[in-house]
Amino acid sequence: MTQKSTDTVWHNATITRNDREKLHKHKSVILWFTGLSGSGKSTLAHAVEDYLHRYGCSTFVLDGDNVRHGLCSDLGFSDEDRVENIRRIGEMAKLMIEAGVITLTAFISPFRADRSSARKLVPHGDFIEIYCQCPLETCEQRDVKGLYKKARAGKIPFFTGIDSPYEEPEKPELIVNTHALSLDESVQAVMKLLLQRSIVR
Ligand code: PPS
Repeated sequence: MTQKSTDTVWHNATITRNDREKLHKHKSVILWFTGLSGSGKSTLAHAVEDYLHRYGCSTFVLDGDNVRHGLCSDLGFSDEDRVENIRRIGEMAKLMIEAGVITLTAFISPFRADRSSARKLVPHGDFIEIYCQCPLETCEQRDVKGLYKKARAGKIPFFTGIDSPYEEPEKPELIVNTHALSLDESVQAVMKLLLQRSIVR
């Protein structure tokens, strides 16, 4: 096992987050989308990014499936690996808001404690939790990737909602009922919140 080094010293950047936000002409913030597989997290995060980009904002989406091809390719779906996955994403998102970027994360992030830890990494108000609420039955009916079918057949162990838990957010900043709203309505609900909070003008 690698031994942790204690011989590192924090280097303060000359250009600050505030400088970068001024350059970008908007605040940076984390939009943390959470929900079951197939609940529409990625679709909504990318649609909001598209909207913000056209608005002239600097944005980036960290997406579960994509990140698991690189940064988190050593992780699986045991509880322990999901905890580590979300820890890394929280740290990455923290760096990205320092870079002055509106950072949208689309991860199942099934455990409240991990979402809460990610929230605590950044100043109050910089973490906006958006719950993509969609009944399991609807996600399973959609089964866009065919994963629920495989999970029910016992071919994917620890599948969220089937044999691995999803802990619903208790006080998210926003709940989007993705099964009841159109994609455009869902995007507008997120944009309304961003305007209310003066994140974009
Ligand atoms: S987590 O729980 O936050 O660490 O998961 P995440 O990194 O978001 O990855 C979820 C995507 O991985 C695929 N997949 C699984 N999901 C849930 N459970 C199991 N066992 C599993 N195995 C693979 C699936 O495509 C998820 O993508 P989404 O976009 O959520 O459907």
